[in-house]
Amino acid sequence: MTKDEHKGKSQSAAKKKAFLDGAYQISTTDDARAFYDAWADSYDDEISTNGYLTPVRCARALAEIADDQTCPMLDIGCGTGISGLAMADAGFTTIDGSDLSQAMLDKAKTKGVYRNLWQADLKQPFPFEVGTYHFLAAIGVIATGHMPPETIPRLVDLLDHGGFMVFSLNDHTLENPNFEAHLHALVDSKTISILFEDYGDHLPGIGLKSKIFVLKRN
Ligand SMILES: C[S@@+](CC[C@H](N)C(=O)[O-])C[C@H]1O[C@@H](n2cnc3c(N)ncnc32)[C@H](O)[C@@H]1O
Repeated sequence: MTKDEHKGKSQSAAKKKAFLDGAYQISTTDDARAFYDAWADSYDDEISTNGYLTPVRCARALAEIADDQTCPMLDIGCGTGISGLAMADAGFTTIDGSDLSQAMLDKAKTKGVYRNLWQADLKQPFPFEVGTYHFLAAIGVIATGHMPPETIPRLVDLLDHGGFMVFSLNDHTLENPNFEAHLHALVDSKTISILFEDYGDHLPGIGLKSKIFVLKRN
């Protein structure tokens, strides 16, 4: 390989993971806000270069199971709106989005699929009443450094009986057994039923996988 070819190759590898590595090192909410504000402009390019598949997997899985796709959905941690777009493509018609980063929300607005978008730190109490949303989606959001394992029961509490939630846990997050332990405790207490579970490609470009879940509040 010539010197120029080597340089080109390392430049494209750097572009492929300009922000991705940092996403797995976030530890506080302030870090997360600053990090995603800075990533907003290039997020879609970097993520699609790496073949981001989890939103489409989640949207198709939920659409297969959903009773009425016109019921309201909240896309939690909607980012630039890739997840909302996947939901709209899968047939959901009434989608709101919330995120910590205003710069990410500004990008989400341009996707044209959200009814309302609002800024919120989801580690704080949720600014809406139980049952407002029949569907909750948290795609690429419940993760080490972003949201703690207790986020799973907190979100389930917001669902009406009969409501559905779809979410993903990537390989880094699955290393912490507390995330799945919270889920299994909710199954054991008969609070939820897990209707679908699948381990598959998350970001194939960096060899990362994710487990996705569709659950129903009993
Ligand atoms: C990896 S992105 C996923 C975005 C989108 N769901 C997708 O699939 O492309 C994670 C998102 O979670 C948001 N986030 C991180 N911590 C948060 C918090 N405490 N409250 C609300 N959103 C948060 C970030 O701003 C970011 O947009």
